[in-house]
Amino acid sequence: MVKVGIIGVGTVGTSVAKILKENADIISARAGQEIIVKSGVVRNLKKDRGLDIKLTDNVDDILNDEEIDVVVELMGGVEEPFEIVKRALKSGKAVVTANKALLAYHRYELQAIAKDIAFEYEASVAGGIPIINALRDGLSANHIESIVGIMNGTCNYMMTKMTNDGVDYDSILKEAQDLGYAEADPSFDVGGYDAAHKLLILASIAYGIDAKPEDILIEGIQNVSQDDIAFAKEFGYAIKLLGIAKKDANEVELRVHACLISKDEMIAKIDGVMNAISVVGDKVGETLYYGPGAGGDATASAVVANIIDIARSGKSAPMLGFDKAFDGKLTLKATDDINSKYYLRINVSDKAGVLAKITKIFEDNNISIETMLQRPSLASSANLLISTHIALEKDIQKMIKDMEALEFVNSTPVMIRIV
Ligand code: NAP
Ligand code: HSE
Repeated sequence: MVKVGIIGVGTVGTSVAKILKENADIISARAGQEIIVKSGVVRNLKKDRGLDIKLTDNVDDILNDEEIDVVVELMGGVEEPFEIVKRALKSGKAVVTANKALLAYHRYELQAIAKDIAFEYEASVAGGIPIINALRDGLSANHIESIVGIMNGTCNYMMTKMTNDGVDYDSILKEAQDLGYAEADPSFDVGGYDAAHKLLILASIAYGIDAKPEDILIEGIQNVSQDDIAFAKEFGYAIKLLGIAKKDANEVELRVHACLISKDEMIAKIDGVMNAISVVGDKVGETLYYGPGAGGDATASAVVANIIDIARSGKSAPMLGFDKAFDGKLTLKATDDINSKYYLRINVSDKAGVLAKITKIFEDNNISIETMLQRPSLASSANLLISTHIALEKDIQKMIKDMEALEFVNSTPVMIRIV
């Protein structure tokens, strides 16, 4: 029998305990032995969670319990769970986590501590989709050329509702929180950080890149407005928050931001809380993974799969799929050197000569305009909606700064990259 201690019995932890009970028959058949939850840790012992497991508010009750074989960390955060997971591994307990923020900062240190003690984290990326398994094991014969996908269920849910139903940003964020999709601090979702944490985990497995969130380009969906959505609809695009990893010779570019994607692309059709990740390998070609990216049961499905694997063998391969990073051959591409097409929304005073001055700034920064629309905005102002041909990130950033300094530009221009 395998005994589990769950540290954090909230949205995901509650579902883990329920699945282990409700599907006990199939789980023990697949694991080759019974798996039971011995106890769980929460902050608030008074809250009813509808579970019949023993609850405590002291992590030592799990970490010092010699009967517990597997510690499941589902509390969230970074430094506190880092200390807890280290203690669990050092005392020889297997660990399963869904905590991508923890792994975004400490995955290499944890791999070094875990050695051959099982440490699994399938649910940390794309909820119920077994993308870690696919990348680490199923595609292990390939050089990975790119990983591009919708990696945050909350943002995709919000963008879908804002696009299809015109629902406003704040009420739809509240709905995503009520459904259990959002992080405890939802600014991690809408700010793009949660997707970046996931991208960094995938980039470690695919490229051995040891980067932290601070090292890469991260933008969220906070500035996307109904004007941008209307432009997208008119020009045949969907707006999605994407995580993008691309290998180019010895460099890898890693970035998370809102994107305008042609409606014909498969990924543009992924709606609601669903995630989809395309992985291109040099031998296999393109593979696509689709499924629910957030929510208690979907995420717990991946957590329980990890527990079953541990019950089967008790060990795991190196958690990132290799012992050392790949000789430092691949380095992170500088954000300034990224190439893209861009869309800009520029709110200007609606008066003679402004358009000519704006187009001159594009020319001065070596940026070529592809399409342009002018929409009346509030009294005596207008929104210029402009898309560009391929340009360099550093040129676009410089041009935005140049525009901000102009008295007839009313606010910082909003920019969305076109993929
Ligand atoms: P949650 O609902 O907020 O649950 C967190 C649980 O941890 C709660 O039971 C909380 O206790 C407990 N907790 C937090 N800090 C604690 C502390 N210092 N001491 C003791 N207990 C503590 O979070 P969640 O949505 O289940 O997410 C858990 C983890 O899974 C996070 O790392 C998250 O990023 C990840 N994840 C979530 C999803 C999702 O869809 N929700 C999907 C994939 C990954 P109380 O209940 O008493 O407050
Ligand atoms: N908050 C995350 C999301 C949970 O919305 O995708 C799943 O990782």
